Amino acid sequence: MHTYLVTGGAGFIGSNYIHYMFKKYGDDIRIINVDKLTYAGNLANLKGVDERKNYEFVKADICDRETIQRIFNENDIDRVVHFAAESHVDRSIKNPEVFIETNLLGTATMANCAKAAWEKEDGSFLPDHKFLHVSTDEVYGSLPDDGKSYFYETTPYDPHSPYSASKAGSDFIIKSYIDTYHFPANITNTSNNYGPFQFPEKLIPLIINNALSGKSLPVYGDGMNIRDWLYVEDHAKGIDMVQEQGVLGEKYNIGGHNERRNIDIIKTILKTLKELLPDSDPRKKNVSEDLITYVTDRKGHDRRYAIAPDKIKEKLGWYPETTFEVGIRKTIEWYLNNSDWMENVTSGAYQKYYDEMYCNR
Ligand code: NAD
Ligand code: TYD
Repeated sequence: MHTYLVTGGAGFIGSNYIHYMFKKYGDDIRIINVDKLTYAGNLANLKGVDERKNYEFVKADICDRETIQRIFNENDIDRVVHFAAESHVDRSIKNPEVFIETNLLGTATMANCAKAAWEKEDGSFLPDHKFLHVSTDEVYGSLPDDGKSYFYETTPYDPHSPYSASKAGSDFIIKSYIDTYHFPANITNTSNNYGPFQFPEKLIPLIINNALSGKSLPVYGDGMNIRDWLYVEDHAKGIDMVQEQGVLGEKYNIGGHNERRNIDIIKTILKTLKELLPDSDPRKKNVSEDLITYVTDRKGHDRRYAIAPDKIKEKLGWYPETTFEVGIRKTIEWYLNNSDWMENVTSGAYQKYYDEMYCNR
């Protein structure tokens, strides 16, 4: 039985991954979820899971070496899946320091503690012990809007935002441990995720939430920037496949050739909301393209991201099972059925964040 240490499991992708893993492996795995519960961490994302005997939550900071080492010492951990990070580009532009701290120092701490727990006296590592570092395609920089250039595993890193620079640095920390110590790790670089439990600072849930409340829909710049969208459960599946079947020490890009312009995403959300909301729902009258508002562009805004998933497809047989049409519908349905979740996360500190981030745009 594998014992997983999952970091950041109360966040968007981490919580979806934990749900996926228990759905797939049931009682055959154990998961210890370590999360600091920043604004982005929410234990409500793990409802149901928290009652399992083979699940444990520990509130801790990944930069806290003593606590992380104790968790390794007290548990027979043979899998680490490292999600915990500061993850939002706009916040990194406003306040880069915490990104450097969590994404660089936190990743180094996780790697050091795993190394200390798994390395034998002769410098080799315990067999079948593996660390997976979850990263982003944003480390590769920005592609021209030509529809034919892509990010490969071999594409040189060229990060632009403090977020992507801190993720690039964290990738290099793991790479250096692989190259220097033969540390048993993989790195995955994934395109933009969407799905349930995503915090509404990110484009898709922000637009759903604003449209339902009749608030303006902020489009940065000309709205023609392109992101390559992946349904979060397909990402969870890819992570598990890389960890179990990937070649240790290698990196894998995960993405589904699903490029969309931001303005088209927004229009699709509005159309789908109109279809799904019954006429009797008072929120339906709020949903309108009149809410679309072009605002000042994000500083250093990357134009286009697009993953070439050839390696993970060919070597591991992974493919994105969820088409965008199905995935966006499921996502919107989830937000409509979970308005309490949205109300909880948007009350309090979120309003302050929103006002500060959008008032001068
Ligand atoms: P998120 O912001 O929703 O969740 C991050 C989680 O990490 C939260 O639960 C938060 O409480 C926790 N955390 C933050 N700082 C911590 C610390 N110092 N110690 C312990 N826990 C801490 O992020 P997400 O969207 O779920 O992203 C997860 C990972 O996937 C990140 O590493 C991110 O860079 C990467 N990624 C995200 C996307 C995307 O589209 N969201 C795409 C590719 C890669
Ligand atoms: P985001 O969800 O922040 O993800 P990332 O910047 O990591 O790709 O943004 C996705 C795209 O949507 C990006 O091009 C910026 C744009 N965007 C807006 O136009 N308006 C918004 O309010 C937000 C949050 C993002």
